[in-house]
Amino acid sequence: MAEPIVLLLSGPNLTLLGERQPEIYGVATLEDHVGRARAAARAHGIELEHFQSDAEADLVREIHRARGRARAIVINAGALTHYSWSLHDALAAFDGVVVELHLSNPDAREPWRHQSVISPVADGSIAGFGGLGYELAIEAVAALIGAR
Ligand code: DQA
Repeated sequence: MAEPIVLLLSGPNLTLLGERQPEIYGVATLEDHVGRARAAARAHGIELEHFQSDAEADLVREIHRARGRARAIVINAGALTHYSWSLHDALAAFDGVVVELHLSNPDAREPWRHQSVISPVADGSIAGFGGLGYELAIEAVAALIGAR
């Protein structure tokens, strides 16, 4: 049987990880985080696809493309987390598991980061554990989709 596909989505500014506010986000790059998620996925027989864009429309398109194809979406939407109702609607129309992911803990930061428009359409959220979150998100997905 084909391996289940899980889509990891990365939103705006995450390509700057490693240089961007290391005191908040750490020194690992996006590539490091994706590698960590990929290794965890491999251990569960999951095929991980990764897509990054700074543009909301690109992320909406990838969520549409995942419909009926991917079993789960793990999404770190960056700042779009806090105001993108189009990502909210696209995820609501996705029929698989959705995990919201953040490196930092937005609830412990500025008030404008306390609202997430992603969490109401997510099965669960992982935030505040830095790069470990990428592994934890895959563990959660593997359990929810019944991967090995
Ligand atoms: C983030 C948290 C967001 O508030 C912020 O805009 C980001 C990164 C995180 O991973 O901690 O760009 O999603």
